[in-house]
Parts: sequence; structure tokens; C-alpha cells
Amino acid sequence: MAFEISLRDQVVLITGVSSGIGAGVAAMFAKAGATVSGCARANKESKSIHQFIQCVKDEGANVLYTETDVTNPNDLEHLVERTIAHFGRLDILISNAGVNIFEGVTNCSEERWEYNLDLNLTSHWRLSKLCKPYLEKSENGCIIIMTSNHAFSSIPGCFPYNVTKTALTGLVRAMAIELSPGIRTVGLAPGFIDTAGNNEWFNSFPDPEAERQRTINLHPVKKIGTVEEVGAFCIFLSSKWASFASGTTYLLDGGRSAIMQD
Ligand SMILES: NC(=O)c1ccc[n+]([C@@H]2O[C@H](COP(=O)([O-])OP(=O)(O)OC[C@H]3O[C@@H](n4cnc5c(N)ncnc54)[C@H](OP(=O)(O)O)[C@@H]3O)[C@@H](O)[C@H]2O)c1
Repeated sequence: MAFEISLRDQVVLITGVSSGIGAGVAAMFAKAGATVSGCARANKESKSIHQFIQCVKDEGANVLYTETDVTNPNDLEHLVERTIAHFGRLDILISNAGVNIFEGVTNCSEERWEYNLDLNLTSHWRLSKLCKPYLEKSENGCIIIMTSNHAFSSIPGCFPYNVTKTALTGLVRAMAIELSPGIRTVGLAPGFIDTAGNNEWFNSFPDPEAERQRTINLHPVKKIGTVEEVGAFCIFLSSKWASFASGTTYLLDGGRSAIMQD
């Protein structure tokens, strides 16, 4: 029999499903049979949310969408309550929503610092606490925090984003210690992933294709990652096959950080 991971009967809550990694991860969890509760700020009537809902339904999985600003504690409470009211349980949290605030150490204003810390760090802690009582009831309670390769090394100007992502590795450790044995907590630190946002970044260069190729060449595997690969990694990490994985943030960067810069 082929090795298979099925998440049938599992309910996963994923933040930031309106685009990029969150949308891709949601599609992969639906393929694995999970019931998907997703959120973002996007209006439920928007094209991106229609796509999210359709994509999960196409796999025959149950789906719920809740408009949520993860920096708003009331919205987070509503999100968790609504998920439980609809599906009666919660097994996996993928806390993914985040933004790149690249201001630099000297230029960054107090407002931008606070906004980025609130969204990229505090919201993950708040949401995890709200999910805790339900995840503890699951036999497979698991939290995956989406951090970044910037948690381990960075490039000039990526402050305060890199600070928030580094801090998340500490949050992962603290929750792995204090929420266990009922809940495992792991971090996932993607490197360069092929998303619309990164495509826009390539398009900001005079020769976007040349910049894409230059970026690909920085990676020993000679490619950039896909949202499906991030989703598949999350599926493994949240499955019973990863029951010994907790407290670690896993880097998924195509070997880029393995190259010594000299
Ligand atoms: N793409 C990469 O190469 C890469 C690499 C490393 C790490 N990451 C991390 O992966 C995560 C997703 O990134 P991405 O590239 O997929 O970015 P993206 O395409 O911009 O998606 C971000 C998602 O977060 C949501 N979001 C933003 N602010 C929110 C808020 N206040 N409340 C609720 N939802 C909010 C957005 O939806 P709305 O705008 O509709 O709210 C969107 O669905 C982030 O944590 C990012 O740091 C990405």
C-alpha cells in the first residue's frame, strides 16, 4: 500500500487564506481530506475568497470563511468561536497571516514597528491561546507557526520583519514546552516561495525574468519553493507521523542558507 497521510475527520484553522502560502496550504489540507476553516481580512464576496472556498469544495472537503483582522483580539475570539460552532472541534492551527515590513533599523517608525510586531508576533500568541482548549481535546492537537528564513539570517533593510520572525522561534519553543503534552508546536520557516507577492517583486526589476533566474541560481536546488511544497510540509508536521516533532522551527529554503557567503 502506498504511504498516505489522511487528515479526514480533522479540522484545521488557517489564517491568511486569501492569497499566497495560506491559500496554497488550505488547498493541500483539503486534498488530505481535512475540514478547513480559513480567515483573512478580504471580503467574503471577493474573488480571492470565492477561489479559496471553491478550491476546498472541489476536493470534497468542508469549508468555512470568516472575515478577520488577526490584530484585533475580538475578531480572533469570533473566529475561534465560529469555527467551533460550525465544526464542533479543532485539531490543527496553521497561524500563517503576516506581512513584510521592510523599513530598516534607522528608518523604521514606532508605528510601523508596533504594527509589524502586533501582526507578525502577538497575533500568533493570542490566537494560539484561544485555540488551546479545543486543541487539547484533540488526540492530534498541533500548532504550526509560519515564520521565515529571515528568522535565521537576513539581508539589509528587512527590519523589523526579521525581528518578528526570529521572535516566533522563541514563541514556538515556549508553547512547545508549556502546552505539551496535549499540543505539539512547530515553526515552519520558508525561504523564497513562488507567490504573487514575490512575482510582483520580480516585476519591479527592469528585467523580471533575469531577476527570477538570478534568485533561482542562489539556491543549490536551482528552483524556488512552491505553496504546494509548503502545504505538504505542514500536512506532514501536523500528522501523527510527526508526533516526535515539537519546539523546532524547520527551515524550508532549498539549501540557500547552507551556502557560505564569501
Ligand atoms: N512568500 C514567501 O516567500 C514567504 C517566505 C517566508 C515566509 N513567508 C510567510 O508566509 C506567510 C504568508 O506569506 P505570503 O507570501 O503568502 O503573503 P501574502 O500573499 O501577502 O498573504 C498574506 C495573507 O495574510 C493575510 N493578512 C495580512 N494581514 C492580515 C491581518 N491583519 N489579518 C488577517 N489576515 C491578514 C492576507 O489577507 P488579507 O490581506 O485579505 O487580510 C493574506 O491572506 C507570512 O507570514 C510570511 O511572512 C512567506
